[in-house]
Amino acid sequence: MSAVIEERRGRIALLKLNNPPVNGLGWPVREGLDAAIDRLGKDADVDAIVVTGDGRMFCAGADIREFGTTPPEHVRGLGKILTDLEAMEKPVVAAIHGVAAGGGLELALGCHHRVCGPKTKLGLPEVSLGILPGAGGTQRLPRVAGVAKALEMIVSGRLVSEKEAFKAGIVDELVDGDVDAVIDAAVAAAEKLAAAGVPPRRSGERSDGLKEAQGNPSLFDDFRKSMAKRARGMNAPYACVRCVEAATTMALADGLQYERDEFVKLVDAIEAKSMRHAFFAEREVAKIPDVPADTPTRPIQNAGVIGCGTMGGGIAMVFANAGLPVTVIESEQSALDAGLEKIANNYAATVSKGRLSQEEMDRRMGLITGATDLTELAATDIVVEAVFENMDVKKELFARLDKVCKPGVILATNTSTLDVDEIASATSRPQDVIGTHFFSPANVMRLMENVRGEKTADEVIATVMKLSKTLGKVGVLVGVCHGFVGNRMLHQYLREAMFLVEEGALPQDIDRVIYDFGLPMGPFAMCDLAGNDVGWRVRQEQIKAQGGTPSNARYSGTIADKICDLGRFGQKTGKGWFKYGDGRTPTPDPDVEAIILETSKELGFARREISDEEILQRCLYPLVNEGAKILDEGIALRASDIDVVWMHGYGFPRFRGGPMFWADTIGLQTIAETMQRFEKEQGPWMAPSPLLLKLAADGKGFGDA
Ligand SMILES: NC(=O)c1ccc[n+]([C@@H]2O[C@H](COP(=O)([O-])OP(=O)(O)OC[C@H]3O[C@@H](n4cnc5c(N)ncnc54)[C@H](O)[C@@H]3O)[C@@H](O)[C@H]2O)c1
Repeated sequence: MSAVIEERRGRIALLKLNNPPVNGLGWPVREGLDAAIDRLGKDADVDAIVVTGDGRMFCAGADIREFGTTPPEHVRGLGKILTDLEAMEKPVVAAIHGVAAGGGLELALGCHHRVCGPKTKLGLPEVSLGILPGAGGTQRLPRVAGVAKALEMIVSGRLVSEKEAFKAGIVDELVDGDVDAVIDAAVAAAEKLAAAGVPPRRSGERSDGLKEAQGNPSLFDDFRKSMAKRARGMNAPYACVRCVEAATTMALADGLQYERDEFVKLVDAIEAKSMRHAFFAEREVAKIPDVPADTPTRPIQNAGVIGCGTMGGGIAMVFANAGLPVTVIESEQSALDAGLEKIANNYAATVSKGRLSQEEMDRRMGLITGATDLTELAATDIVVEAVFENMDVKKELFARLDKVCKPGVILATNTSTLDVDEIASATSRPQDVIGTHFFSPANVMRLMENVRGEKTADEVIATVMKLSKTLGKVGVLVGVCHGFVGNRMLHQYLREAMFLVEEGALPQDIDRVIYDFGLPMGPFAMCDLAGNDVGWRVRQEQIKAQGGTPSNARYSGTIADKICDLGRFGQKTGKGWFKYGDGRTPTPDPDVEAIILETSKELGFARREISDEEILQRCLYPLVNEGAKILDEGIALRASDIDVVWMHGYGFPRFRGGPMFWADTIGLQTIAETMQRFEKEQGPWMAPSPLLLKLAADGKGFGDA
């Protein structure tokens, strides 16, 4: 079957892109389109052309299967083909349905008239892959939709509805019907245009949309300022703005050339490679070598959540948001009431911001039922436990669940550190026990670390991985160890941040470096947000269990403990590593600085100037090194899974591809040598992992591990 199907409707030629599943613009499609344009331009029996997509959508853009391959030499790029399409004397009409994204929308913009069906998404999301629309999108969209609209759409990558597109002038006609109705309307429009005999209205020749910029010289600078925070560290969003700006100052042909040059600079740069890696890592993460895709799953039609505190409340919302009825259990009625009230307040805040309707909030609240008796969970399909982080409490609870729950129920724990196998041993059905480690706030953060126990059944793993998707989360399968993947690596990062403060840096220095690198906040703002008391209690427990701090290790909690002794637990107490006033903006606090200076002295550190480079390396290289150990131990299946954990659980910037991919871009030899130096300067906890050393010696990256 040809990649472009040609049909006739009287004197109208109908071209249907045919490259399932999304009509990606792979080279056979481009070749077919190119040939058809040439042929139909000369065909005396054809008055006009309609372009559409066969199957479920118009076209979702580039064919990702083509990434990294070289098409045959004679196949031209989409940009050139669209220049010829637009230049045709015969009217060309796009019949858009489903999706017109990336090259798909560029194709539609290359046509002279656009007809669009219902429930359609249109946009130029290239920026999310570290590139820009390179087939005329940055030149034609502003001419058609106006500069401000084009900037917003291209720089955010956001897809808009057909109604929004119509309002913005991106589509000329809306049709309320199925694909056939859209095609019929497009054919009718093509006939009318051909009969009118007027020259085609070419997007590239229009100038109406550019006027707003000509009368507002600061538009681009203002826009750059408004995006500075979101786009920090990245090149692609700025290149997008430059191209749109070029559309307002250059003739079309020059603007197209400028866009092409900018595209070429981006496409092979590390930023685009990192974002492509992120894209593929997120697809790969669902694949588990020993749990094949056809593994049977158990139906999940309802859920139980035990504990309605910080995490339990959020997890209950996650189920309700996905339309699943959920029973929430607390042991005391008062705790249950407080927990349910918090959930209601949480929803109400979203309603007051206009992001949720009152009816939708009521519907979701209606799916959440509170109870204080565990037997209410007798018929539940999955139970997620989110009670205190205490092994005895959890084991006692799982033993009771074992008695009350029906056979085949999935028993999940949200523990962040405890041994899932030990928890499972409290039941007679360890095969049904698994970890589902949500991140805080559970209703916002997309990551779920699904923790596979020694005896967890394949069916349970497959069900929970599928459930993650149903819940709108990204599930990553990990193994049992203290802190699993994310928090185990985080521990390394936080420890070094604390040490750097003892040696000479201030919390605001470290936070600035990490923020500028691209994370949403630095380690100290993060601790203040999560609550400093959490780590404080863990340290106290550890010290008690060990009978003091081990003499061969450096203790990282000296300053943190002093901060907590003063009740500075973070945002919730208005003070922590920073002070907060009424809001959430951290402000450096001289009181904290005084504690830091005093502690450095007590510990015998002559405070020194610490460079931004050292801060970055000391915080992130040990984190990567721990990732290498996790990989070596088989706790994570792939280095790219670790990247997914960090992008979705901690906001590690996508444009760096996650910590392991980022390490590969630095070069593992550099990382290994720096860790060896740190080991000498700091201590044995900085020793590079055997896997890191081996890969570095072999000149390989984590991607090859
Ligand atoms: N807070 C976080 O950032 C975070 C992140 C990931 C995982 N976790 C894990 O989630 C779990 C819960 O943490 P949290 O922060 O929500 O704690 P929390 O103290 O806010 O909530 C725990 C809730 O469990 C209830 N509870 C205790 N024992 C119970 C029992 N036997 N039956 C019913 N309810 C009981 C308590 O009344 C309390 O409301 C812990 O295992 C924790 O390690 C926490």
